Amino acid sequence: MTNQRIQLTIDGRKIEASSGQSILAAAEDAGVYIPRLCWMKGLSPAGSCRVCTVRVNGRPQSACTQPVTPGMIVENDTEELRGLRRNLIDMLFVEGNHFCMFCEKSGNCELQALAYRFGITAPKYPFMFPQRELDATHPEVFIDRNRCILCSRCVRASGELDGKHAFGFVGRGPDKRLAVNAEGGLGDTEVAVDDEAVGACPTGSLLKKRVGFEVPVGARRFDHVTIGSDVEEGTAK
Ligand code: SF4
Ligand code: FES
Repeated sequence: MTNQRIQLTIDGRKIEASSGQSILAAAEDAGVYIPRLCWMKGLSPAGSCRVCTVRVNGRPQSACTQPVTPGMIVENDTEELRGLRRNLIDMLFVEGNHFCMFCEKSGNCELQALAYRFGITAPKYPFMFPQRELDATHPEVFIDRNRCILCSRCVRASGELDGKHAFGFVGRGPDKRLAVNAEGGLGDTEVAVDDEAVGACPTGSLLKKRVGFEVPVGARRFDHVTIGSDVEEGTAK
């Protein structure tokens, strides 16, 4: 990334950005929240969830992977794009078994928080109720693939931040699933409870054991704040 400053427009507002920045990062620096799920600060972008889709000079692009260019016109907060994002989020709910009311991550889950932000109260597509495997072989961490949205944040965090490459994907299409690099399951990997990979999961798919429901309802991360409001208020870390 160079320090060359360029100008672009997002939702009709002129903003400045550094050449080489992604649209998502430039928008974030300017206090504009672009909804996202597979993107995480400090990780390479995956461009897989498409929740961050914006229109760039009229063409749909993923904001987390598309670099800014001078004079670019970005549309982010339009009814069309909100509808597209609602549909993507809706699909993620029905493709897995999320059961938010019983999930330990409820109130701290980015998927659920995005559903709140977009006013989704019930999915509009039929539930698929897939058969998914749990992995409780690790003494301190478990995997509940029912809630996995295949965002690859754990995969990238384990490789890029933990240096362990403990996670990956196997299978294709509806059979694609999160795998670990040990035949005996997570307990046979080098994964430690404090690994960045464990904290990277936006849903309740990778969780620390024995800490569920620690924060009472009403005091959880998204009980009072809407996801993205920290970006809009300029307090995002
Ligand atoms: S376990 Fe979590 S972080 Fe990993 S791919 Fe699934 S949802 Fe994403
Ligand atoms: S956040 Fe950009 S594609 Fe997922």
